[in-house]
Amino acid sequence: MRTEDTYFYDPVKGHGLPHDPFKAIVAPRPIGWISTRNPAGQGNLAPYSFFSAMCDHPPVIAFSSAGRKDSVRNIEATGEFVANFVSQSLAAAMNACSASFPYGEDEMVAVGLTPAVCRQVAAARVAEAPAALECRLLQIVALNDLDGQSTDHFVVFGQVTGVHIARAYLKDGRFDTGAAAPLMRAGYLTEYAAVGPEQILHLERPDTPDDARKLLAAWKSTDHRSKSL
Ligand SMILES: Cc1cc2nc3c(=O)[nH]c(=O)nc-3n(C[C@H](O)[C@H](O)[C@H](O)COP(=O)(O)O)c2cc1C
Repeated sequence: MRTEDTYFYDPVKGHGLPHDPFKAIVAPRPIGWISTRNPAGQGNLAPYSFFSAMCDHPPVIAFSSAGRKDSVRNIEATGEFVANFVSQSLAAAMNACSASFPYGEDEMVAVGLTPAVCRQVAAARVAEAPAALECRLLQIVALNDLDGQSTDHFVVFGQVTGVHIARAYLKDGRFDTGAAAPLMRAGYLTEYAAVGPEQILHLERPDTPDDARKLLAAWKSTDHRSKSL
């Protein structure tokens, strides 16, 4: 990409495009379907695509809430939550959960999903989800910008203390991501990406620079539609 072929903007000054491209660039993103329970025992379920894994030893995940939404409120009060895996078959239910339900009304029940008990947290998990991560709160970061001004975004970090995997998606001891068919958030408001077995490709990880050069040369001489290298 040569400079003259590049569109550049400084977000503080504005993108100058019909729609903000930021979320289309950091895409596709997994969706954390966050279930919580409030101190009165009422459930809550909402999708968050500013969501990902932060590290694996110990397993830590994080999501970010624009404003102190009900999920954050419940996590602040109880110190726990569950991140449920969103497969494509659950797309409509996930989307329905993003509506503004009154605080205390359980979206999981409202959209016709089945609450399943967790082992270590009081919040329910989505029984229909291929996997669910029980988490205990590590910290909530109230995000400031470069000027030290509040962004009114809250990043919730949770350590995974329990992992549920539907046995149907365990193949030869591996979680079969392709079969579980994660729904990912793509660029603009209504856009999603669908990942299935066809999109899984394998890349050998190089150790040394020499390995890296060999893999690169092999890649260049390979049909790029091939699923392994
Ligand atoms: C696919 C998808 C991803 C979303 N990601 C986020 C997100 O990352 N952060 C956020 O604040 N809201 C996000 N939303 C909107 C929330 O789901 C919505 O505001 C919801 O009502 C919040 O529920 P709660 O108040 O029960 O936590 C997303 C919605 C959808 C459909």
